[in-house]
Amino acid sequence: MKVNFKAVCLGLAMGLATAGAVADIGKDDRLDVVLEPDERHLVLFEMRSFLQALQGITEALTREDMQTVANLARTMGSGAANQIPPQTTAKLPETFQMLAGTVHTTFDVIALDAESLGDPLHTIRQVSTMMQTCNACHGIYQVKVGSEPFPRLKQ
Ligand code: HEC
Repeated sequence: MKVNFKAVCLGLAMGLATAGAVADIGKDDRLDVVLEPDERHLVLFEMRSFLQALQGITEALTREDMQTVANLARTMGSGAANQIPPQTTAKLPETFQMLAGTVHTTFDVIALDAESLGDPLHTIRQVSTMMQTCNACHGIYQVKVGSEPFPRLKQ
């Protein structure tokens, strides 16, 4: 009985979360990350690189080409995080940095597992879980251009 109750609660919570993500547009209450134009360019460039890598990874997965999966994942691994200069990183809210770090280290794990396990289904699961972090961050933040030395909201 207790287990069932938990299962029902979990199902309900997941259902609500999914419905909320799809149906509730609401108003734009994302927090501002205030950056200089060139810093915004760097951050958005990295975002487009994430999407590009994921496109290549999913394409390689259809061919079960796990070496290409690993190579592409590595381009977005924790080494890539250093492309954002420290003075820009300092302007990013802590939660933002944490979520970005999670994505980079997950790409590391995806690369390692693709090589060592060679299991496309396992990689697809990892990609799906990682994309929840993409979605979570997109739900919280937006980038605004400005020259304030610190973001208006740091959390
Ligand atoms: C740490 C937070 C964070 C994470 C993690 C994150 N993003 Fe983003 N992303 C943003 C923000 C903020 C924007 C700008 C949104 C805005 O200003 O409206 C953005 C924008 C983008 C854009 C649009 C780029 C452009 O040129 O306008 C793409 C594509 C994108 N993200 C893909 C991804 C993918 C794919 C992942 C996961 C692999 C990801 N992002 C993970 C925060 C994040």
